[in-house]
Amino acid sequence: MKKQKSLNLPATTTPSGPVECLGHQFASDAARREHFIALLREKLGDPAFRRTEGFPVADSDEDILRLSDPPYYTACPNPFLSDLVAHHGKRYKANDTYHRDPFAIDVSVGKSDALYKAHSYHTKVPHLAIVPSILHYTKPGEIVLDGFSGSGMTGVAALWCGAAPESYRQELEAKWKREGMQTPEWGTRQAVLNDLSPAATMITAGYTLPFDIEAFASRGQRLLDNVEESCGWMYETRHGDSRVKGRINYTVWSEVFTCPDCTSEVVFVEEALDKDTKHVRDEFPCPRCKATLTKKKLERFYESRFDAVLGESIKTPKRTPVLINYSVGESTFEKAPDADDLALIDKVAVLALPGEVPSQKLPYMHMTHERARLDDAGVTHVHHFFQHRAAVALAALWREANVEADTTQRRMLLWFAEQAIWGMSILARYAPTHYSQVNQYLNGVYYVGSQIVEVSPWYILDGKLSRLTKAFVRTKSPGSSAAITTGSCATLPLAFQSIDYIFTDPPFGENIYYADLNFLVEAWHRVRTDATPEAIVDQARKKGLNEYQELMRRCFEEYSRVLKPGRWMTVVFSNSSNGVWRAIQEAMGVAGFVVADVRTLDKQQGSYRQVTSSAVKQDLVISAYKPSEALEKKFVLGTTTEETAWAFVREHLSNVPKFVGRATEGEVISERTPQMLHDRMVAYHVQHGVGVPIGGPLFFAGLAQRFAERDGMYFLPEQVADYDRRRASVAEVKQLSLFVVDEASAIQWLRRELTSRPRSAQELTPVFMRELQSWAKHEQTIELRNLLRDNFLEYDGVPPVPSQIHRYLSTNFKELRNLSKEDPELVAKATGRWYVPDPNKALDLAKQRPFAKLLERALLREFEDYKTSKAKKLKLFRTESVRVGFKAAYDAKDYATIVSVAQKLPESVLQEDEKLLMYYDVASMRVGE
Ligand SMILES: C[S@@+](CC[C@H](N)C(=O)[O-])C[C@H]1O[C@@H](n2cnc3c(N)ncnc32)[C@H](O)[C@@H]1O
Repeated sequence: MKKQKSLNLPATTTPSGPVECLGHQFASDAARREHFIALLREKLGDPAFRRTEGFPVADSDEDILRLSDPPYYTACPNPFLSDLVAHHGKRYKANDTYHRDPFAIDVSVGKSDALYKAHSYHTKVPHLAIVPSILHYTKPGEIVLDGFSGSGMTGVAALWCGAAPESYRQELEAKWKREGMQTPEWGTRQAVLNDLSPAATMITAGYTLPFDIEAFASRGQRLLDNVEESCGWMYETRHGDSRVKGRINYTVWSEVFTCPDCTSEVVFVEEALDKDTKHVRDEFPCPRCKATLTKKKLERFYESRFDAVLGESIKTPKRTPVLINYSVGESTFEKAPDADDLALIDKVAVLALPGEVPSQKLPYMHMTHERARLDDAGVTHVHHFFQHRAAVALAALWREANVEADTTQRRMLLWFAEQAIWGMSILARYAPTHYSQVNQYLNGVYYVGSQIVEVSPWYILDGKLSRLTKAFVRTKSPGSSAAITTGSCATLPLAFQSIDYIFTDPPFGENIYYADLNFLVEAWHRVRTDATPEAIVDQARKKGLNEYQELMRRCFEEYSRVLKPGRWMTVVFSNSSNGVWRAIQEAMGVAGFVVADVRTLDKQQGSYRQVTSSAVKQDLVISAYKPSEALEKKFVLGTTTEETAWAFVREHLSNVPKFVGRATEGEVISERTPQMLHDRMVAYHVQHGVGVPIGGPLFFAGLAQRFAERDGMYFLPEQVADYDRRRASVAEVKQLSLFVVDEASAIQWLRRELTSRPRSAQELTPVFMRELQSWAKHEQTIELRNLLRDNFLEYDGVPPVPSQIHRYLSTNFKELRNLSKEDPELVAKATGRWYVPDPNKALDLAKQRPFAKLLERALLREFEDYKTSKAKKLKLFRTESVRVGFKAAYDAKDYATIVSVAQKLPESVLQEDEKLLMYYDVASMRVGE
């Protein structure tokens, strides 16, 4: 029989014959697994391996081994990962001629796709959103990494590049053609997926490793049938007065409160739920004393019950069943629980809690003890999340899945069964306005409501099984091109320069507490996240924004280590605070990445917009590259000269977008503007810990000498023709919107205004005043006349008229056309107008230099005041002074001054100002050196 390779298996099958894996031949896939399980077991005995950052917390080694399928998946750091990558990837070669432009995607497409919905996770980026990005940046067979892979959608996308149906391919190819892009190279990419959470990598394994779908469909059905056989009696109810038995779909439980006036019991659902509108009423009468009640006024009623697992009495809010939804044949009915139903519930309640149900105490976590007080809801241990009947049924599901002999099928059955854990817990709320009561829990929190729906295993899983199998078949279930590891992204078991592309969606600040939320499912698997290195803001674990940024920096440094030079990383940033946005940018920069493009999708226009302001209210796609080895070498030597600055600018210009815009309108590409190029150049030097070899005015003059200028942007000589061609197809090139919040943005605004129309201060004043509406609160106000004096030039009436003004007047005034620069009429009209100095003109520079020097001195003087100020926090200051002061202190290696002044700034200002944060971070690292 022909031997099969274990990677790139045909979609829906697992091999039945001999297999090859990592260069070894095995008689069967089971033999392959046995071999690697034995190796992993041995490795688990190595204390140094166990100390790897992010190593999960397991009840026993066997629990880790039970989940794992080595070498492809381990529920701990994967000791075979770098071998897998070495075996399937290509070594980095310094003469690699790889080049790509940055690429933005719509992160919201594909949310209704059946494969996307096959297994839920707290947040997901759909695989269909990721596919175009992988196609753009990689070739078939190349290695794609996601170190925060969650449910593994990056892996599904990598596989989809090979498995996509013809209709999808045609549609994408047509779209790319319209956008002037080349046809993608279809074919599976190899995915390397890592997450800190075993619950996440378990989902990933289900999504990306091969399994026999048909066998899974029948085994899944058998699992449900067996559970029905053992637990069906717990879900029977009498249909009307007949002897016919109905099958319970769900039982609604209501919390019982007491009336604050008469202390009688109030069954919440019965009194507060409006049976017609199905909404909870704001006010309702007490059934006994008729006092007007609201949910807030009610008092919780606790009852004591003996918890056999804990061997003690516990207090829980009283809950009572109020409604049963059941089926007889194809028909569905509802009834109030009768005496038999209550007797049945009592009968189940005395059954011993099966051993499969986890019962450990909830550790102190933000989600269980701070965000919510779960002990108020009677939940102090994991088994308290379940009504007794639900716990017994879930345990039966778990047991049935675990007895499966075929390990791949066992993992898939657990993948299927674990999807009932949240939905069968008391987190599931009764939602009468919804048709289905499946998985009606609140996302992203542990919230126990006053109306709970206790669903049967079949109600939640029957439909799921058929949908799942269809989803996998429809998409031709992925082959095994994924390699999965569980641990911290800051310590990936991967070799230096082994990865071709990174797509990643890390946690953002304190949006979602993944480890806390994964705790419930992981308790069932008995392998839990080590939350210590979790990259989130989490007060319960004493992690603030600084700790988050530090963790992210280490993760990006690891990304930078394993990525090949000149290759790309796409980071998806979901709606969050500006501080978190800055922290991410800063962490990327310090780790050695250079951001080339930041975009957001404008849903209305159906196109991407660049994001330049610090206000981040939407999902962003950040494209960053790892600089080439040639450039990096220049910085490693540590002797930077003007030439290194220009080498950086050249590389950056080669990597940023060449044209941005829609059919009729182009956009100024912020990365190509002089200010942005200057800022990026400075940041690159500072982040490498070396001095900045060239100052602002020289840099701007040098830009103009070396590169081609178009619409206020700079291009490499070889890029200009392409830009000109695309520029000719649009009517205009639009300026980016700009908010005047401080001195720097005011200067930028004035530069724009005066470039398009040199004019007098008097004319400028009213327009300028209008712009000041967004001026930052902490920012010292600055007079327009001072801004003009320090940064621009005023024409004094001595001929000739500067060409900046001459150009404007002769194009806009008929009577001034074709006049020489000395013409008295022109001179008169030009006198008193302010204009932007031309960095190429020695005269302009000579006129401006004294003012620039004075300005710098004034700014430094002010910085000196901040430095010596006794105030703990500066309330009103000039950010530009702080920026200039930080730069001067950095050049003088006076890191202590940077740190001490930074500590006097309001936290929000420091966190949101890219430049200040950059100096502060570098200084904090070096302060004791
Ligand atoms: C936004 S989610 C990723 C979701 C993923 N894009 C998907 O579609 O399912 C972020 C993930 O990062 C993981 N995580 C947090 N800190 C981590 C760390 N230090 N190393 C690796 N993963 C981490 C969390 O467990 C979570 O699954």
